[in-house]
Amino acid sequence: MKSSELRENFLAFFKGKGHEIIPSASLVPENDPTVLFTTAGMHPLVPFLLGEKHPSGKRLANVQICIRTDDIDEVGDDVHHTFFEMLGNWSLGDYFKEEAIKMSFEFLTDSKWLGLKKDRIAVSIFAGDKDAPQDEESEKIWLSLGIPQKRIKKLGKKDNWWGPAGETGPCGPDTEIFYWSGKEKAPEKFDSEDKRWIEIWNDVFMQYFKSLDGKYELLSQKNVDTGMGLERILSAIGSLGDDYKTDVFWPIIKELEDLSGKKYEDNKKEFRIISDHIKAATFITGDRKGVEPSNVGQGYVVRKLIRRAIRYGRILKLSGDFLIPLIEKVLEIYSDSYPYLKAKEDYIIDVVKKEGEKFEKTLEQGLREFKIKAEKNEGKVIPGKVIFDLYQSYGFPFELTEEMAKEKGLSLDKKGFKEEFRGHQELSRTASAGMFKGGLADTGEKAVKYHTATHLLLAALRQVLGEYVYQRGSNINAERLRFDFSHPQKMTEDEIKKVEELVNEKIKENIPVVCREMSLEEARKKGMMGIFESKYGEKVKTYMIEEFSKEICGGPHVKETGELGNFKILKEESSGAGIRRIKAVLNP
Ligand code: ALA
Repeated sequence: MKSSELRENFLAFFKGKGHEIIPSASLVPENDPTVLFTTAGMHPLVPFLLGEKHPSGKRLANVQICIRTDDIDEVGDDVHHTFFEMLGNWSLGDYFKEEAIKMSFEFLTDSKWLGLKKDRIAVSIFAGDKDAPQDEESEKIWLSLGIPQKRIKKLGKKDNWWGPAGETGPCGPDTEIFYWSGKEKAPEKFDSEDKRWIEIWNDVFMQYFKSLDGKYELLSQKNVDTGMGLERILSAIGSLGDDYKTDVFWPIIKELEDLSGKKYEDNKKEFRIISDHIKAATFITGDRKGVEPSNVGQGYVVRKLIRRAIRYGRILKLSGDFLIPLIEKVLEIYSDSYPYLKAKEDYIIDVVKKEGEKFEKTLEQGLREFKIKAEKNEGKVIPGKVIFDLYQSYGFPFELTEEMAKEKGLSLDKKGFKEEFRGHQELSRTASAGMFKGGLADTGEKAVKYHTATHLLLAALRQVLGEYVYQRGSNINAERLRFDFSHPQKMTEDEIKKVEELVNEKIKENIPVVCREMSLEEARKKGMMGIFESKYGEKVKTYMIEEFSKEICGGPHVKETGELGNFKILKEESSGAGIRRIKAVLNP
């Protein structure tokens, strides 16, 4: 089956079951700073899973483009990729387990649809733990559909629980459907460790909300969230045993064979990495919220994808603009389903070309740098910091440095590198959250007071609601402050009161507001909030109100918090999906 047919069939099936078809959301989340990319179809639907009314109703289905960066280092095997399409259907407080499972089963096995053999299907269900009971209901439904007991496996949270997508949010037990991909008859008993059983569909029963303190509370409605990876199911239907042989990859692989004069079968890892990465980079760059390569957030991921593709190209002895014809293949494959991509063709090619040129230069510089460092460390271990600098400043993937070191008989301090790397990840998370506040436009006395109050407010919100709260916008004038921040639901009266009290407490303590310039590096080490996009080593201005509030900020601010007066929240309201807005005033 072709990918276009599969998409059409899936959507037609769910339309026939009363679902509205909604478009794929952007790859870069609209209003959610807790993750860099849309990682599942449920992701853009979080507010609606939490109870907000969806304009298209309670039954939805779509094909969602997704990026999972956790899997980057696994790319190269049969099934992992960073970019994939997810076929999904949702019930927002409408149908629940029985209908969801029956629909999945019908679509998979009915000869009108995919017609997969029932005797090649197995399932897993949630075994139960202290947070939620065993899912006996799903087990009964599967038995009633003719799945034998031996083909039903009960597994714990690690396997049969999905979500939340970020640190906090909706989640629940799931039932996963597996397909026997082996050539021989499927074994009677389902062994979830046997790789020939491929997980093809996940039905999640989202009825819990995980809060930051690790508690699971029941949501106001019972939802269904399902997801089926398009590439994986295509490969299963076609008994290909390799996602890269499906029509959403194969033309890229063929092009690579032509360009390199090498065979896919002999160089699977390199071919897979290059084709996956160039596809993901094309989608991210061409996204409606287009992203360019940079050193932070989403831009950093694009940079990594392009550079890694080039680096693996070098192993195939490909250099220069070899990625450009591959981009053209990606666009050919997807232009019917995602026409906006084709419209951005010139732009995507330009971005990738420029990044390639930059990387070539840094590769050369980095090689020189490496030679100097390697000579200095002759016969010794190359320190983590050096590996990280090569990585950070010259875009050298760890494997590249590792290979070069091997040639010189040196070893690497991998642990040290990992530590440096973790620090950097925190930095890009903070940066991608977009918390930077530039200087204040209106520097009148009253506006300055509101500016300082905004810092206290953000710190108080993070203390009361959780560390995932980030600033999403702020608007200050002489009369009031308006502050937008990420939070999935309405604040309770109690939370509002606590935030107000905390801000007023800090005002009463009359704490000095300390401004200091420091290097970005130092600001990061001190846990300052703010964007870290400036150049390495550059000085930034920071404002601290003891340990309570620490931000990189252009200022100006009052000298002491006591100058502010009494802080009062007038309103707390929604300002878009996952964003709340507070209006507050300072009374003398
Ligand atoms: N959100 C679920 C998943 O991604 C369906 O597996």
